[in-house]
Amino acid sequence: MRVRLYQPSDDPEWRRMRTALWPDQTAADMAAWRSRADAATLVAEREPAGLCGFAEVGARAFADGCDSSPVAYLEGWWVDPDRRGQGVGAALVRAVETWARQRGYRELGSDALLDNLVSQRAHLRLGFSEVERAVRYRKAL
Ligand SMILES: CC(C)(COP(=O)(O)OP(=O)(O)OC[C@H]1O[C@@H](n2cnc3c(N)ncnc32)[C@H](O)[C@@H]1OP(=O)(O)O)[C@@H](O)C(=O)NCCC(=O)NCCS
Repeated sequence: MRVRLYQPSDDPEWRRMRTALWPDQTAADMAAWRSRADAATLVAEREPAGLCGFAEVGARAFADGCDSSPVAYLEGWWVDPDRRGQGVGAALVRAVETWARQRGYRELGSDALLDNLVSQRAHLRLGFSEVERAVRYRKAL
């Protein structure tokens, strides 16, 4: 299994996986991500063809629990269900870390929903430290 940077021919597979991770996203959301100059998409190849995972990393001005600014942030992380538990997610995060280190970032921020225990465990196993728990609110104006 090889992890590498996204290339244009990956677009259908990337869209398939991104929609699986974020079912409510729009075509505009995907276009906005593709247009970001301060971000990268890493993909994991599926044998014999296609992809089986992706990770998205970008710069944020600030990230909870991180001291540096700007800071690299793991914005998206997905492995197809039939390939989970085989090191694909770890390989994607290692590639994200390499991308960030090469650009001078000293920290990598991330988050997981409170009920996503698998993601929380995987983060911890991959060397992340939990820094905060939060509940987000919204009020229509
Ligand atoms: C989170 C996710 C990307 C992990 O990918 P993966 O390929 O299964 O991860 P890996 O096999 O590389 O495992 C990485 C580490 O996490 C641990 N881990 C993975 N799945 C686990 C599980 N179900 N329970 C406990 N630990 C788990 C592994 O043991 C491994 O640590 P180790 O190498 O020390 O044993 C994958 O489960 C996924 O796509 N989940 C759905 C989408 C999602 O929740 N994304 C994250 C949003 S914040």
